[in-house]
Amino acid sequence: MSNRTLQSAFLGTIGVLVKVLNYFTRFVILVSLLMFSKSGVAQDSAPSSASNLPSSHYSLNDPVIDQKIDVLLHKMTLDEKVGQLVQYSVGQAAGPVTGPTEYKDMIIKGEVGALFNVTNAHDSNAYQRIAVEQSRLHIPIIFGQDVIHGFRTEFPIPLGMASTWDPQLVEQAARVAAQEASATGIRWVFSPMVDIARDARWGRMAEGAGEDPFLGSAMARAYVLGYQGARLSNPESVAACVKHYVGYGAAEGGRDYNSVEISEHTLREFYLPPFHAAVEAGAASIMTAFDSLNGIPASANPFTIKEILRKEWGFQGLVDSDWTSIAELIPHGIANDAATAARKAFLAGVEMDMVSSFYHENLANLVRSRQVPEADVDQAVRDVLRVKFALGLFERPYANEEDEAAAMLRPRSVSLAREASERSFVLLNNSPSTNGSPLLPLSGDLRHVALIGPLADDAANMLGSWSAKARPEDVVTLRAALVEKLGEGRVRYLKGCTITTCSDDQLNAAVDAAKQSDLVILTLGEDGPEMTGEAASVAHLGLPGRQEQLLESIIATGKPVVLILFSGRPLTLPWAFEHVPAVLAAWFPGLQAGPALVRILFGESSPTGKLVVSWPRAVGQEPLYYDALNTGRPAGNADLTKPPWEGSTKYVSRYIDEQNSPQFPFGYGLTYTSFRFGPPQISAMSLSAAALNNDLSDAKRTSDSEFTASADITNTGTRAGEETVQLYIRLEGTSTAQPVRALKGFQHVALGAGETKQVTFHLGPDAFALWNDHNKFVVEPSRAKIWISPDSAHGSEATLEITK
Ligand code: NOJ
Repeated sequence: MSNRTLQSAFLGTIGVLVKVLNYFTRFVILVSLLMFSKSGVAQDSAPSSASNLPSSHYSLNDPVIDQKIDVLLHKMTLDEKVGQLVQYSVGQAAGPVTGPTEYKDMIIKGEVGALFNVTNAHDSNAYQRIAVEQSRLHIPIIFGQDVIHGFRTEFPIPLGMASTWDPQLVEQAARVAAQEASATGIRWVFSPMVDIARDARWGRMAEGAGEDPFLGSAMARAYVLGYQGARLSNPESVAACVKHYVGYGAAEGGRDYNSVEISEHTLREFYLPPFHAAVEAGAASIMTAFDSLNGIPASANPFTIKEILRKEWGFQGLVDSDWTSIAELIPHGIANDAATAARKAFLAGVEMDMVSSFYHENLANLVRSRQVPEADVDQAVRDVLRVKFALGLFERPYANEEDEAAAMLRPRSVSLAREASERSFVLLNNSPSTNGSPLLPLSGDLRHVALIGPLADDAANMLGSWSAKARPEDVVTLRAALVEKLGEGRVRYLKGCTITTCSDDQLNAAVDAAKQSDLVILTLGEDGPEMTGEAASVAHLGLPGRQEQLLESIIATGKPVVLILFSGRPLTLPWAFEHVPAVLAAWFPGLQAGPALVRILFGESSPTGKLVVSWPRAVGQEPLYYDALNTGRPAGNADLTKPPWEGSTKYVSRYIDEQNSPQFPFGYGLTYTSFRFGPPQISAMSLSAAALNNDLSDAKRTSDSEFTASADITNTGTRAGEETVQLYIRLEGTSTAQPVRALKGFQHVALGAGETKQVTFHLGPDAFALWNDHNKFVVEPSRAKIWISPDSAHGSEATLEITK
């Protein structure tokens, strides 16, 4: 049954019950369709029409909840209302501490609405008992936490999760995180981070889904649906907090917390879509960012919060600040005192104050002095209470301490983590070794393998940044898994260097170990917790310390080398990509790092990951992203390996000392077979902009358009394999310049050796819409070029005319 049939069956029926059923049924049907189609049949992983997608919106829409809020709000004093808007961190601080650190008395007085960094059921219950049993109105606390890529079962970092291009897998992983976190009383997670990241210098690139808004939107939806499930009131569901709203990823120079300038056009087309997707999926809360956006701090920005989020998108959840981001309005320079900062943030629409204590200390007085209307405070309190009611916290405020341990590390969760790791790896190089065939996969017959490098046996680092409750002792390292596979006697392990230091003796010992072995597996990269994530921007994008020297010395032995890079960003290593036959980007893979790597290395499964960020050749290329504008002087096919004075291409947009193109393009990733992409075939040569615009503005539209683009994909190798087929569009002749390519669809297709399948994309009006010169999303008469390709830089195109 199509979604259209499904929906029309309900059309004309009114009332809350039907609405709830409608959403729920759509969710169940969509989930079963997705599960059914997983078995090798090509499918749209990310339909372009958002209106077809499931959401848990109705959790916040329930009129019964509104009645309960009315009753409660009526009883609350102004101070108790403000208390619901106050949030503090209990555990280890992840930022400056400006407020109190002892909360018991405040909780009794009803002055705290939310706590975070309480990470076990015993402690959360202890705080909750104070709120529920000792405060006048018995309003439960909501406990939050940075659950970013798993709770106890640690999955790959979000950049790795996105590299799977598999929203269903991401949704399942988020569900596991929700189950584990909720068992400790945490019912609110500060995730997903949906910031578009175009600059690898920015450490927080590790925390998101990369540079593309279409893929980023698919991932945003997946996280929200996984965390929140079909019903927030399910005790295993947690409220998502989408962050950081908005523009944070465009920090100038890639330096964390730095200022951001983004035109409205770029904001609308690139930075806002993943937030919008998360809101459409029913996200219960959103976190405002640290950055100043076009001179106005994001945590005091009425345009982005009130106009776009509330009015345009109809967001009904809670708006939280980031850690002390309200207090930071003072150093930003838009407030000279705490009261002004609190007033500006609050009037801009920031409802809850994370940590700064500025609301706690100023908001009630601002109401009494009539600088803030009490009605606005009431509305903010409603939004907090709505989430608490929707989660069922009033009925079930406590975690079940007896069930807590059993929720963690369930075998099914751990095997999902291994699957996610395997699918997150991106094979960057795989050149022939001495016998003429690609170095990977390795043969199990190898006599001696040298396993060298600081990250081969480093459990803590496999967890990356923001590892919640994950424990290094739960991690299986590559060393442990390799020894398990080959036996202790066949693995020569040597750390070689640390991440940042290396003595000549260590280096020489590593070279000796390499010389005595048939093959070297070299594990290099960054320090996950220290060099990636928040407050971890870099000005150099290579390997830290003397790791490159270690690499060059090992290559000089002439032994075949497999290089595994552990990092939260792409690293500029042009020499390595020229000289190392096999290179695998492993990101930070989580607790199943070792088993997942061994399965891929020995061909028990094949790599399927694809890059979600353009991999730079040099740091000077940053920010680097595939969906750039063409400029008036594009370099086109000019040979940019030569400086302009050796050719005739001076006055084009280029560097004189580096190519424009990335080392590896967005969407790139090899596997153990090869694929041929047939030319794209489109179902019509022209479409009418007017008809597409009709569909676009029709809020009830339910179907994908009839328009399709297809291509035959053939597995030209001798092994079965899976390809992620990508569809890109370029619009020409529009009122605002559009990217040279923009991703509008992707599908996974599994093909046996020699097999061909046709892959078809259904493209709705959203695929052709743009933010025009009148500040509207419309389809304009234009020429659309369409590629169906293995990455963002290859493939042949078809041309479609979009007429009036
Ligand atoms: C600051 C970070 O920017 C944000 O991502 C995180 O959720 C909060 N701290 C809470 O830890």
